[in-house]
Amino acid sequence: TPTASFVIIANRLPVDRVPGPDGEVIWRRSPGGLVAALEPVMQSVDGAWVGWAGQPDLDLKPFTEDGIRLLPVTLSAQDVEEYYEGFSNDTIWPLYHDVISSPQYHREWWDAYVRVNRRFAERAASAVAEGGTVWVHDYQLQLVPAMLRERRPDVTIGYFHHIPFPAHGLYAQLPWRDQVLQGLLGADVVGFQRAQDATNFLTAVRRRLRLDVKGSTVSVPYGGPRTVVARAFPISIDTTPYTELAARPDVRARAAEIREGLGSPKKILLGVDRLDYTKGIRHRIKAFGELLDEGRISVEDVTLVQVASPSRERVDAYVQLRDEIELAVARINGDHDTMDHTAIRYLHQGFPREEMVALYLAADAMLVTALRDGMNLVAKEYAAARSDQRGVLVLSEFTGAADELRQAVLVNPHDIEGLKDAIMQAVEMPPREQSRRMRALRKRVLENDVNAWSRDFLAALENVRSAR
Ligand code: G6P
Repeated sequence: TPTASFVIIANRLPVDRVPGPDGEVIWRRSPGGLVAALEPVMQSVDGAWVGWAGQPDLDLKPFTEDGIRLLPVTLSAQDVEEYYEGFSNDTIWPLYHDVISSPQYHREWWDAYVRVNRRFAERAASAVAEGGTVWVHDYQLQLVPAMLRERRPDVTIGYFHHIPFPAHGLYAQLPWRDQVLQGLLGADVVGFQRAQDATNFLTAVRRRLRLDVKGSTVSVPYGGPRTVVARAFPISIDTTPYTELAARPDVRARAAEIREGLGSPKKILLGVDRLDYTKGIRHRIKAFGELLDEGRISVEDVTLVQVASPSRERVDAYVQLRDEIELAVARINGDHDTMDHTAIRYLHQGFPREEMVALYLAADAMLVTALRDGMNLVAKEYAAARSDQRGVLVLSEFTGAADELRQAVLVNPHDIEGLKDAIMQAVEMPPREQSRRMRALRKRVLENDVNAWSRDFLAALENVRSAR
């Protein structure tokens, strides 16, 4: 492989390899906010992307897709089970999302995490040019920065953490807490979504490693001496496809068709999430069901569309969550549906972006009720798509997006009564207030898009490089 001066490493490649109906190979856009944010960044720079194609035991040669050079890393079935489903998604994910689900601690999973992180680091070490830059992404790869620095001290290393970093009292549960901090400190710049995440990280570094922290800078004696900058870089979206799609007549026509298909209720509420316990889907459904039970709304007037895209389907907590959500939806629909109207239109599927924008345009209110979320890009997509200045965003305070999107109707999703009131406020909000709020939300999102985010992060990395 020829070397690249700029390399991104993330657990996933931007495309996922999935078997088609007749056993043929289909490449599909990978799920989640990370890929959604990074894809446009990569299309604007010449670099390579190291990652996994989403299936076990795939031994793929480097290839190019949509103008991005992809360097696949192979994971065995055991790696997938222990490193991806186990340590990444059943230890770190729940721990870093404030133990909404109980983190499982297993020594074998940790060993697999170390082993697979080393494989990613090696792959990047052999792909990056002398004096180049490597940008490591997210919680699956927290050890890569230090492993890479050991192999390639000439390289400038950035790390961006897409999910929350927990308060020290929770972080301290992790049996490998010191090793993970040391892994992250291999980077020159460690980026977080919120200021609070950076503060939590710096507190852990001070308390656990006894390192000197001044403002957002850590003095690191090993692999140096050198300094590491840790601060917030709130991620965003590429707004162009959303504003463009929202302006297209066929997409607008599709939005009207969706409304009719739902029996033309007065108001459509929308939830769009990966099916994940961090997203507060159960809380949202509970609040909606109680509003129906209490007669504050009726199915003729209000429908909730819930898109819950399949995610991490072999992890127990996700299997259980799916059962709970589907039971709750079926009960509410059973109690309230009529021949012509449904309470909750539930879709356990992913949809292409065009259809999502039509849905955003069809929805009178978007409900983002996450119990904990690093950023939540769906909130930003909704704002970007509403060039008609209509629609209400109901947004959980427990998302990174809430730091920026102050004109949303902010809610505490744990407070079901408060959530019900917020939904009623959205349902009843006069058009003038909708457009006043939506204008402010859109301004924020359009001005702080993903290009501004990556420029900001890469400039911080460049500062470090030139200071050296
Ligand atoms: C979140 C994480 C990403 C992850 C995505 C999808 O956005 O921050 O790192 O890729 O979820 O999850 P998955 O496990 O399917 O990659």
